[in-house]
Amino acid sequence: MDPDTREVVSSIELSSGWELRLPLRWTAILRSQLPAETSLAVTTGVWSGADAAKALLVGADVAMMTSAVLKHGPEHFCTVERDLVRWLDDNEYISVAEVRGSVSYGATDDPSAFERANYLRTLHSWTAPHRLTPRSPSGD
Ligand SMILES: Cc1cc2nc3c(=O)[nH]c(=O)nc-3n(C[C@H](O)[C@H](O)[C@H](O)COP(=O)(O)O)c2cc1C
Repeated sequence: MDPDTREVVSSIELSSGWELRLPLRWTAILRSQLPAETSLAVTTGVWSGADAAKALLVGADVAMMTSAVLKHGPEHFCTVERDLVRWLDDNEYISVAEVRGSVSYGATDDPSAFERANYLRTLHSWTAPHRLTPRSPSGD
C-alpha cells in the first residue's frame, strides 16, 4: 500500500530464503499437536534441496516452491530433487519417512528448554557492527 495515497500497489516480489524461518518454526511446533494423518506443507522461502530437507526435518509432508521456479525455470525442480537425494545419502537416511519430524518439538524431551537454548545461542551470536567507546566516570 502507498501510505500517501492509501492505494493498493500491485507488484510481484519473489520470496527470500530467510522467510523460511517462520514456516519452519510453526511446522516444528504444530507437527506433534496435530493427528499424524494431518498433512503439513511448508511454503514461503523454499529455494533449495537444503530448504526442502529442513521442511522435512521439522515435520512437513511436502515443501512447496513458487519464487525459485519463477526465477530459475521448471528445471529447478530437478536441481532441488538431486540435492535433496544427495543430502539423504550423505546423511545416511534410507527413507524420507525417517527424516520427517525428527527435528520437531515432538522429537525433544523438553521443547521449551530446546527453544530457550536456541534463543540464547542466537542472541550470543550477535556481534555489533561497531562498538561504542564507554565514557569514563570523570566524563573524559
Ligand atoms: C506469481 C505468483 C502467483 C501466485 N499465485 C498463487 C495462487 O494462485 N494461489 C495461491 O494460493 N498462491 C499463489 N501464490 C503464492 C505461492 O503459492 C506461495 O505461497 C508464495 O509465493 C510463497 O512461496 P515461495 O517462497 O516459494 O514463492 C503465487 C505467488 C506468485 C509469486
